[in-house]
Amino acid sequence: MHEKESFSFEACEQTADWLLSHTRQRPRVAVICGSGLGLLADTLQSPEAFGYSEIPNFPSSTVAGHAGQLVFGELQGKPCVCMKGRFHMYEGHPLWKVTFPVRVFKLLGVETLLVTNAAGGLAENYSPGDIMVIRDHVNLPGLAGLNPLLGPNEERFGPRFPALSDAYDKELRARALEISEQLGYSAFVREGVYCMVGGPNFESVAEARMLRALGVDAVGMSTAPEVVVAKHCGLRVFGLSLITNTVVRDYDSKDSASHEAVLEASQARAAALQTLITELVGSIEP
Ligand code: 6GU
Repeated sequence: MHEKESFSFEACEQTADWLLSHTRQRPRVAVICGSGLGLLADTLQSPEAFGYSEIPNFPSSTVAGHAGQLVFGELQGKPCVCMKGRFHMYEGHPLWKVTFPVRVFKLLGVETLLVTNAAGGLAENYSPGDIMVIRDHVNLPGLAGLNPLLGPNEERFGPRFPALSDAYDKELRARALEISEQLGYSAFVREGVYCMVGGPNFESVAEARMLRALGVDAVGMSTAPEVVVAKHCGLRVFGLSLITNTVVRDYDSKDSASHEAVLEASQARAAALQTLITELVGSIEP
């Protein structure tokens, strides 16, 4: 028997309808929370949470530091839905599963997708604890043919050949930098290029050097598939990377990356990142 190659439009509708009949909230903004960054969901006003396992068709998350809950609520009076825990390619999920929630968000009436992630810093002037506004991405798995849009196109979501040249909304990026300045965050907020790699291993030294030579500022194992699917269905996208460690680019280095260190470092600046997202959501019309 052939394995299913993607969820049908009808499956996305079934999930969206189930959610719409289980909450009165009608989010305009969705947030996908990265490793160690799920606490944002706990700051929502009037929260209504659904475990991934109770939502029809929803995959389940398997990584430590990634709780599996979809939380509806308000940030600064704006109705939001927050994914506390995302799905990663390295967990073995096909990309159409990783990105399924994005299509469900679209059918819920969401217009703007905010994504966060933990990432390794490659740019020479980046330090752990920095927050990077994502200007653009390099989708390495995507370039190699691992794309969530692979297979027959679903026209009800979007076109066969979507543009990605304007993926990260210019206005939201500018506003995030303005808000950072107002909050006194300018010393640690930057703007740069994120690269997705498949993982789950961290990069070899030669790979890290290659990525830097390609113009990559920060590297992680998520985000690009969700952004591709969001742009395909016409969502406005904004992304933040929390730089949790410096990628090892030196054979003499005594450092090595670990998931524990990533989670620990993410805690130090998670509050600032949450404040930035909250203020940004507060600035979104209506
Ligand atoms: Cl160093 N590499 C990758 N691929 N992902 C990360 C990371 C590094 N640090 C946090 N996430």
